[in-house]
Amino acid sequence: MRRPIIAGNWKMNNTKQQTKELLTDLIPLVADAEAEVVICVPYTSLWQAGDMIRGTNIKLGAENVHWADKGAFTGEISADMLLEQGVEYVVIGHSERRQYFGETDQTVNARVKTALAKGLKPIICVGETLEEREGGKVEEVLVRQTTEALKDVDKDALDKLVIAYEPVWAIGTGKTATAQDANDTIAIIRDTVAKLYCEKCAQEKLRIQYGGSMNPKNAKELMAMPQIDGGLIGGASLKAADFSQVVKYNG
Ligand code: 13P
Repeated sequence: MRRPIIAGNWKMNNTKQQTKELLTDLIPLVADAEAEVVICVPYTSLWQAGDMIRGTNIKLGAENVHWADKGAFTGEISADMLLEQGVEYVVIGHSERRQYFGETDQTVNARVKTALAKGLKPIICVGETLEEREGGKVEEVLVRQTTEALKDVDKDALDKLVIAYEPVWAIGTGKTATAQDANDTIAIIRDTVAKLYCEKCAQEKLRIQYGGSMNPKNAKELMAMPQIDGGLIGGASLKAADFSQVVKYNG
C-alpha cells in the first residue's frame, strides 16, 4: 500500500569526482531494488548525479529549497533551479538546518508549500533533541513540528510528500532508536496527520521514514516495523556497498 522509500542524504559530502565514483558503483548495485531509491546531493553535484542516474531507478533529490520564486537571497536556490536540474525530491527542515542555520517551523512550512506548488516532493524532517526526549517532550515536539510543517497544505499533497522522523540524538552518533521505539514514535506522527486530515489519508497516502544511524545491520529490523515506510540515510549513504544493502534491506 505504501511503497518503501530509501533516500540517501549526502549532506556536505562528495565533490563532482567523488560523486562520479560513488554513483558508478551504486547504480548497478541497486538496479533491482524493490524500494523507491532517492539520492539527495549537494547542489554542486546535482548536474553530475542527474546525468548519471538518468534512465536508472534512482531518483534525484536536493537538500534544501528556498520559498521565494527568485530574488535577492544570496546563497539560496529556488525550486525552478532545482527542477531544471531534474530534481524530484527535496529535503526540508533537516535538524542540521534547524540547529545551525536558523530554520524554524515557519520557514519549513514556507519551503514545503513552495516545493509542492512547484511540483517538487518534500522530505520533511522532524525529530526531538536528547534534551526534549529526556524532558518527556517527544510527543509535544513532534505534534508541533508536524502540524506547523503541514499548515495550509492540502490533503491531496499527502502522497506527494514524505515525512522523515529523525531523532536528533541518533544522527551521526551510532545510536539508533530501537525499532519498536522508532515505530511507536512514528505512530504519533501518523496519528497527528490523521487528526489534521483523515485516518484513511494518513494510513494510505503518507509515507514516513526513519533516519538516524540507519545502516546495513539495523535496516531490516527497522523496515519490518509496520509504521516505518523507509529510511533517510546519512553516513551509510556515502558508501555504495552500505547504501545498497540498506536499499535492499530484505537481503
Ligand atoms: P546518519 O545516518 O549519518 O545518522 O544521518 C541521518 C540523517 O541525518 C539523514 O538525514
